[in-house]
Amino acid sequence: MYAVELNKLTRRFGSFTAVNNITLRIRKGIIYGFLGPNGSGKSTTIRMLCGLLEPTAGSGAVLGLDIARNSEDIKRHIGYMSQKFSLYDDLTVIENLRFYAGLYSLPPEEGAPRIQEMLELAGLQTRRNELAANLSGGWKQRLALGCAILHNPPILFLDEPTGGVDPKSRRMFWDIIHQLSLGGTTVMVTTHFMDEAEHCDEIGFIFEGNLIASDSPAGLKGRIPGTLLAKPASEPMELLEELESGPIPLLDAYPFGASIRVLVDPEQAVQFAAKGYQVVAPSLEDVFVFLVKSHREEVVA
Ligand SMILES: Nc1ncnc2c1ncn2[C@@H]1O[C@H](COP(=O)(O)OP(=O)(O)OP(=O)(O)O)[C@@H](O)[C@H]1O
Ligand SMILES: [Mg+2]
Repeated sequence: MYAVELNKLTRRFGSFTAVNNITLRIRKGIIYGFLGPNGSGKSTTIRMLCGLLEPTAGSGAVLGLDIARNSEDIKRHIGYMSQKFSLYDDLTVIENLRFYAGLYSLPPEEGAPRIQEMLELAGLQTRRNELAANLSGGWKQRLALGCAILHNPPILFLDEPTGGVDPKSRRMFWDIIHQLSLGGTTVMVTTHFMDEAEHCDEIGFIFEGNLIASDSPAGLKGRIPGTLLAKPASEPMELLEELESGPIPLLDAYPFGASIRVLVDPEQAVQFAAKGYQVVAPSLEDVFVFLVKSHREEVVA
């Protein structure tokens, strides 16, 4: 049995399709990253999986439970951290944890040691009596995570858990996620940080509500055809125009930070090397750029 199994899952809001025909399987115990730009349908998908929003069409199961019919069961068995950490600002760290222990109906003999474990996991022991309102972003985030997993769920859904959190806190957060994963928890996490996606065993790219690819990071990078080259450029747009009107056929070319990247047939690569370009390994961002273009061409065709 898969931890998550979706079959043509669709959600419309009026005539607008936010999630379009998503078919997907997530193996138990992996970290699955769900990546896409703002408004691509990540939260809408997660909310359907957590039993918080009904699908318009298609179906899905989480831990073998049907997301439309068994939503109450699902809510009890999963861990969910929403995009806005759901903490009570006027409660202290430990009071927030106690509140969630009550919400999950943990008996006190189970709840008390679990709360201690969560304080340790999140590194919050010394801040146990601070008001949640006074915690900085990274601490809030780890407290919210602790609250979401108090009941030891076999699957955890994290919706943009690292938004607005500094890099050090992001690293600490990912350390915890890896620990949970090693312990057997399945984790589905949305993000638009491509570097974070490298932490995932598998990644789904979502674009305008469509799942345009789902694979391991290495598998995704292998989908880029040809040779990728890069060259620093202070005026990438000018260089881009020059290349596009030039004689060498390009599979793709785009600005990338303060540089330009070109994708060419391997036999053309030597011509670019002579112009100061260097062969680079594709990043997930390159893969995303490539797959979005391929998807657009398919839609138009
Ligand atoms: N309740 C709703 N009513 C109408 N439209 C909605 C509703 N919820 C979401 N949408 C629309 O559906 C689309 C997908 O939204 P969603 O929140 O799933 O995107 P997202 O990928 O999570 O984006 P972000 O990265 O900004 O969090 C957006 O265009 C959004 O405006
Ligand atoms: Mg979202």
